[in-house]
Amino acid sequence: MHTTIQYMAAENTLAPAVSGDGGQALAEDSRDFAGTVGDVTVANPAMTARNVNVWYGEQQAIIDTSLDIGKSQVISMIGPSGCGKSTFIRCLNRMNDTIDSCRVTGDIRLEGQNIYDKKLDVVPLRAQVGMVFQKPNPFPKSIYDNVAYGPRIHGLAEDKQGVDEIVETSLSKAGLWDEVKDRLGEPGTGLSGGQQQRLCIARTIAVSPEVILMDEPCSALDPIATATIEELIDELRQHYAIAIVTHSMQQAARVSQRTAYFHLGRLIEVGATDDIFTNPGHRLTEDYITGRFG
Ligand SMILES: Nc1ncnc2c1ncn2[C@@H]1O[C@H](COP(=O)(O)OP(=O)(O)OP(=O)(O)O)[C@@H](O)[C@H]1O
Ligand SMILES: [Mg+2]
Repeated sequence: MHTTIQYMAAENTLAPAVSGDGGQALAEDSRDFAGTVGDVTVANPAMTARNVNVWYGEQQAIIDTSLDIGKSQVISMIGPSGCGKSTFIRCLNRMNDTIDSCRVTGDIRLEGQNIYDKKLDVVPLRAQVGMVFQKPNPFPKSIYDNVAYGPRIHGLAEDKQGVDEIVETSLSKAGLWDEVKDRLGEPGTGLSGGQQQRLCIARTIAVSPEVILMDEPCSALDPIATATIEELIDELRQHYAIAIVTHSMQQAARVSQRTAYFHLGRLIEVGATDDIFTNPGHRLTEDYITGRFG
């Protein structure tokens, strides 16, 4: 069953992200937008985002978007290039703060706490809401230090033994321990791409996050490394809320329980992944999943 959330009228100031006649048609579809199809809420949210708008200078990149990120589940963010997927997930740990032209309005909460509260320190926030990027980006340090760095700066261990334990547990949870336990002193950058990405996931886990954001975490990896990461995501969801941006609909179908479809800065539809892929409620979602554009 779909419920429709009706938003207050928002002026469409979004420039079409695609050029030519197709772009014009999409922009017109977007003007007809009556509200996100599907239930943007979940029973057990780790995060809630309400009426989020994002601008880069004059250009609006996210329009009046509301969405919950559920505990112990994976939500996929899909949609054509430039539709705002990265912009939206970067709002969830205030990564957009690092972009000067970027302005965010709306209400975003982690466990009920407003993360845009002026008194809130973003350093612990970015540990609680960790992020894994498209290109694996280990620090130019040893495998051990890549994982130990966060727990040390956040004071999560009392002594060396405590740090050792966090490093081992995090690498184990990231499915990397057996491959690296005999060479923890070697540089993280010397690992294969897939191993580096698992190292980055271990680094994220090491600071005990509640939410893990992943922006196309497999797009630089080969199919085998991708399969390993997908299996890992499925295991990690028992302990964390996970939001993953992906260009692969197969990947969204394999790893996520919920899927959100973005188009020209709007959240068009959200729902159970199976429903989105077999019985989409909005024509734009259907056009995208059937490959008519994107
Ligand atoms: N740092 C930035 N400065 C200015 N505009 C930006 C910036 N980052 C993104 N944008 C614009 O915001 C819009 C949304 O971009 P975003 O990167 O969020 O899309 P996306 O869905 O992640 O795309 P892709 O699938 O290509 O990664 C686009 O029009 C983009 O050009
Ligand atoms: Mg992106």
